[in-house]
Order: sequence, then structure tokens, then C-alpha cells
Amino acid sequence: MNKPKVFLTRKLPDEVMERLMEETELEVNPEDRVLSKEEIINGIKGKDALLCLLTDKIDEEVLSSNPRLKIVANYAVGYNNIDVQSASSLGIPVSNTPGVLTDTSADLAFTLLMAVSRRIVEADAYLRSGEWGGWGPLQYLGPDIHGAVLGIVGLGRIGKAVAKRAKGFGMTIKYWNRTRLSDEEELREEMEYLPLDELLKFADYVSLHVAFAPETTHLISDREFRLMKPTSVLINTSRGAVVDEKALVRALKDGKIWGAGLDVFENEPSIEEELLTMKNVVLLPHLGSASFATRTKMGMMALENILAAWKGDKIPNLVNKELASGE
Ligand code: GLV
Ligand code: GLV
Repeated sequence: MNKPKVFLTRKLPDEVMERLMEETELEVNPEDRVLSKEEIINGIKGKDALLCLLTDKIDEEVLSSNPRLKIVANYAVGYNNIDVQSASSLGIPVSNTPGVLTDTSADLAFTLLMAVSRRIVEADAYLRSGEWGGWGPLQYLGPDIHGAVLGIVGLGRIGKAVAKRAKGFGMTIKYWNRTRLSDEEELREEMEYLPLDELLKFADYVSLHVAFAPETTHLISDREFRLMKPTSVLINTSRGAVVDEKALVRALKDGKIWGAGLDVFENEPSIEEELLTMKNVVLLPHLGSASFATRTKMGMMALENILAAWKGDKIPNLVNKELASGE
């Protein structure tokens, strides 16, 4: 039977690879590294589909090198790595993997919140150093989690899933979002809407869950850090550039905030040098969706989108919805 010719930019979990090999004519980057633009352009020659990662920059040059692509399937919920506008004008559908990584990503945001406040990484390193002389009343104190106010910035699926976890820990939830919940929903969800500035002033923890867009670029910068409490903690698991990373370094150094937990950075994989020397931050290499099950589900979802595009069916997770007509 006819199968779509797919180019995959980097090896995915085994179960996904098996399915891809069964259902497509697969060519995969043999090395476990990010490909250059030229390599991607070469890879998609004569292919029907590109299965790419958030580390692949899919710009107009890549897209127009093969305008006959039937789909660009991104192995991520975020798709700021793809020039979707160019894809749309070339008539190339783009898909993502929403939903399947919501809980896994929320787990990680909460893990970071706890790790920063209870100083888990710093204290672990101290113990391993062999310097521990026994229990001490002043060792590694941090702010409480229970009873604290969590400010959720961006109440999409992941933001809501973080709120659910926080409620279990006895936190009070405030949120800011472009669109407000209805009064009934706010009551049911036990969360109060605040304008962003007010939320920043009130919250003990601020966790970012907005999508990356021009309006959310440097949403948190010097002005916002001045509004935050000196005892507060910032958690970012969304996209690096939502935070002005240089301003974050200044805020941490000047005690404008108490600590930060970061899974994403403005110029991944490079990081503001000074962050690496700071004890009041926990830094992770973009692990939001990194559970065995979720990384497999994301691959299956990307495959479903590719197969749908190939068959001319409705693409389940189409990003550029303007291309949906005519399906
Ligand atoms: C991870 O950051 C994703 O967008 O899937
Ligand atoms: C991700 O799935 C989100 O909408 O928050």
C-alpha cells in the first residue's frame, strides 16, 4: 500500500519509531543531534511530510524548498519554531500535540516550584559535598508552599492543571488570562482573576503558562520584577522569551524576587552565564513533557496528523486553521 514519505529530524522513543516504520516510508536523521537548516532542506526533498521538533527552526526558506509538503507535524504543543504564516501562504498544514502533555508539563512546573522553595538541589549538593555536620536550625530554610498565593499567568490547559495541583497543596489561586472565566467557573474552580500587575504584587509564586507570541515576549521584565514581592518565586515552563532573561538576572541579584525555577530559556541552549552561578535558581534543560508515556503519546499524535494529511482527511491538530476549509 502507498505510504507517506516522512522525514523525521531526530530519533523519537522506540514505540513511536516502530509505528512510524510500519505506517510510513521513513527517513530519519541517524544522529542524535539538531540538524542544520541545509540538512533539513535536503531531508525533505521529495517527501510528503516533515516531522520536526521544537529545536528545528522551520522558516520560509525551509518551507518553500518543498511547497509540496502535505504537512509539517511538530512534536510539541508550542510551535513558535515554525513560521506558520509562511506555511499558510504556501498552503502547508502545520500540526502540534496539544492535550497529551498537559498533566506531565503541569507536574514539572509544580516540581520546580517545590524544588526552588525547599531548596532541594542546593541542599542535595551540600549533603554530597561531605560538609554536613548534622541537623541545624538555620539550614536551608525556604518559604512555605501550603497557604501561599499562587499566581497563574495564562490559564490554558496547563495553567489549569497546575492550579489543580496547587489546590491539593492548600495554596490560594489567583490567575490572569486574556479572557476571564465566567463568574460561575471562577467560583467552581476557586480562583480569582486579577489584572497582571495586581497578580504580580500579590503572589508568593508566579507560574507562567502563556503561549509565546509577540504580545507575550518579555511579558516579565524589569518593571514587572519591581512589582513582585522580594520573597516571591518565579516559575517558567512556557517559553524562555516570555521572561527578559537579563532582567531576571538583575532581579535575582538585587533581591527583587527570592528565587526562580526555569525549564526554558530565551536562547536555548545558551543561558545567561550568571544564572549558572546562582544558588536561588533551579535550572532544567526543557523537560516539561519528558515522561516516558507522554513522549510516546506525542509521537503517536504527530503520526496521526501525518496520516490524516496524507489521506486528505481532517487533520486533528491543525494549527493554521485557515487551511481547514476544503478538507
Ligand atoms: C514543549 O515545550 C512543547 O511545546 O511541547
Ligand atoms: C497547552 O496544552 C495549553 O493550552 O496550555
